[in-house]
Amino acid sequence: MSRAPVLLFACQGVDQAAWLAALHRADPGLDIRVWPSVGDPAEIDYALLWKQPPGLLDGMVGLKAIFSMGAGVDNVLLDASLPAHIPLVRMVDPSLVAGMVEFVVMQVLHYHRSMPAYRAQQEVLHWQMLPQSLASERRVGLLGLGELGAASARALSGFGFDVLGWSRGPKTLPGVRCFQGADGLRDMLAQTDILVCLLPLTPDTRGILNRETLSHLPHGAYLINAARGAHLVEADLLPLLEEGRLAAATLDVFAVEPLPADHPFWTHPFITILPHAAAQTLPQTAAPIITANIARHRAGQGLAHVVDRGRGY
Ligand code: NAP
Ligand code: GLV
Repeated sequence: MSRAPVLLFACQGVDQAAWLAALHRADPGLDIRVWPSVGDPAEIDYALLWKQPPGLLDGMVGLKAIFSMGAGVDNVLLDASLPAHIPLVRMVDPSLVAGMVEFVVMQVLHYHRSMPAYRAQQEVLHWQMLPQSLASERRVGLLGLGELGAASARALSGFGFDVLGWSRGPKTLPGVRCFQGADGLRDMLAQTDILVCLLPLTPDTRGILNRETLSHLPHGAYLINAARGAHLVEADLLPLLEEGRLAAATLDVFAVEPLPADHPFWTHPFITILPHAAAQTLPQTAAPIITANIARHRAGQGLAHVVDRGRGY
C-alpha cells in the first residue's frame, strides 16, 4: 500500500489552526508537516507556501508540486532557490473570485455614487444633492482580464457600466471593450473614469501605475489598486492627486506591508487604505481545492492552474 502523501505547510500571516483543520477535513489521510517541524525533508511530497522563508525547500528531494496559498505567486517566487523544475500551482478558488468581485463593485459604486463628496459634505453639515450619472455614462477600465478581472468585468457590466479591459493576449468578453499592448493601454486609459488594477506582479507589470501611464487618464479619474503594491510608483501618486489628474485612490496593497505608520498615504484625505484585504483565500473553500489537486496528481492526472514560470503568472 502506498504511504499517505506528505504536505509541508509553510504559510505566514494566516490563521494556521483554521487552515490545518480545513486541510484535515478535506483529506484526513494527508500527513501535514508544519514548518519548521518538517521531519525527514526527503519525505515531503507537496508544499503549501505563503511568504515562506527563503531556502526552506532545500533538501526536499521528493517534492512533486508547490502550491501558492494566494492567486498571485510573486511572493512565493521571491525565493530564488525555489526549484524551477517543480510545478508551481496558484490559487484559483470561486470564493476568492467572489470576494474580489464584491470589493471591486463596492469601490466602483463608492466613486460612481459620489460617496467621498457626500462624506466631505457630512463633515461640514452641508445638505446638497449632487448630480447623479448613469452607470452607462461611467467608464470602468480593468487592468488584467484573468480570473479576477474577467469576473469583475462581468459584474460591472451587469450594473450597466461601460467596461473596458486590458490583457496581454487578445480577448473577447461580452460587454467588455478589450485592449492589448502598449498602444492598447494608452487607448484604454484615455477612456477610463475609474481604473482598477488586477494584474499579476511580473517584471512587465512592476511600476505600471506611474506618472506617465496615469497621465493618460481623463482629469479627475479614480484609481483602485487591488493587485500588488509594486504596481504603483508610490512617489507619483501624491502629485497626481494634488494636480487633480486623480480625484481619489483606493489602495489595498503597498510596496511595504504593513504600511509604515509614518507613510503619507495614511492621512491623505483622498486615499482609502485597506490592509491587503480585498479578497482573502478562505481555508474552508481553498483547502478542498488543494487536496483535490493533490488527488488528481496522485491519480496521474495533470495539476490544475500551474503557473507559467516564463510569464511569471
Ligand atoms: P490571472 O488569472 O493570471 O490573470 C492575470 C491577467 O493579467 C490576465 O488577463 C493577463 O493577460 C493579464 N496580464 C498579465 N501580464 C500582463 C501584461 N504584461 N500586460 C497586460 N496584461 C497582462 O490572475 P488573477 O487570478 O486574476 O489575479 C490577478 C492578481 O490579483 C494576482 O496576481 C494578485 O497579484 C492579485 N490579487 C490580489 C488580492 C488582494 O486581496 N489584494 C487577492 C487575490 C489576487 P492574459 O489573459 O492575456 O494572460
Ligand atoms: C492575495 O493577495 C492573493 O494573491 O491571493
